[in-house]
Amino acid sequence: MTRPDLLVVTRYSDDDMHALAQHYTLHVLSDAADSARLLDEVGPRIRALATNGESGASAALIDALPALEIIVCYGVGVDAIDLERAKARGIRVTYTPDVLTGDVADMGIALLLALARQIPAADAYVRRGDWGRKPIALTRRVFGQRLGIVGLGRVGRALARRATGFDMQVMYHDRMHFDDVPYAWCENLVDLARQVDFLVVCAAADQGTRALIDARVLDALGPDGMLVNVARGSIVDEPVLLDYLRERRIAGAALDVFWNEPAIDPAFASLDNVVLQPHRSSATLQTRAAMAELVRGNLAAFFADAPLVSEYPLVREIAVA
Ligand code: DGY
Repeated sequence: MTRPDLLVVTRYSDDDMHALAQHYTLHVLSDAADSARLLDEVGPRIRALATNGESGASAALIDALPALEIIVCYGVGVDAIDLERAKARGIRVTYTPDVLTGDVADMGIALLLALARQIPAADAYVRRGDWGRKPIALTRRVFGQRLGIVGLGRVGRALARRATGFDMQVMYHDRMHFDDVPYAWCENLVDLARQVDFLVVCAAADQGTRALIDARVLDALGPDGMLVNVARGSIVDEPVLLDYLRERRIAGAALDVFWNEPAIDPAFASLDNVVLQPHRSSATLQTRAAMAELVRGNLAAFFADAPLVSEYPLVREIAVA
């Protein structure tokens, strides 16, 4: 039996590629010396496209695949997929919700602690042999402090639960108020930023959240406030954030996500009030295995004409991360 063709936008790990190759004839765009040529050759017969959160699927790519029926995303954030184009063409989209929630929330807390307690800087201080020779600055307390969560979706809620374990006072901003949580809702993000010590971004990226964290929000957070972002770079006005960090108009930022990954603005590396991560909140062995399983499960269901395992609700306008 011939294996169905699968177009992979960006090569997955060797194990995941191997597992997919058992069932599909793989065509890997990121490996192609001439991607236009690959698309000319295989594009007309591709029914399924496999991608990830960062690479997504542009309108141009979708247009190059006239037989496309499904886009399978290895990630929960589908903002890099042109959803309007997919919807207009009746192309279904799957994603990997739930399985990565705990890891992303863990990373949010880890970044909060690393930033406030200056763990990377203190690690470097010990390694340099400065301990006992030079003074080291005191850090900021986390437990019992006020935490503002931007976006109370799956990740926001998991982070809030963890923060209550640190006796933090949790407040949130979201487009809507939720009756099923004990946290105070701030309809206005600037008001939330004014009231908290730490602001953690957990919202899904879409047109409505683009550059949501702007100068007004950072002004409200103030010179003692700290920002953490485990969602998407696009939600923060990055040039403005860099100015505020340089001028110490906020105390610091811990970031897992950026505007231009992986070639991020080099200005970040020159700052001593940031903690930087290479977009890896979900990068644990367990979670990545579960994400890959969902990718395979959705593909298998599609080709078997069975119900998809985790279909992204394209009819809903607002994504919940
Ligand atoms: C996700 O799943 O959205 C992660 O951020 C990887 O893109």
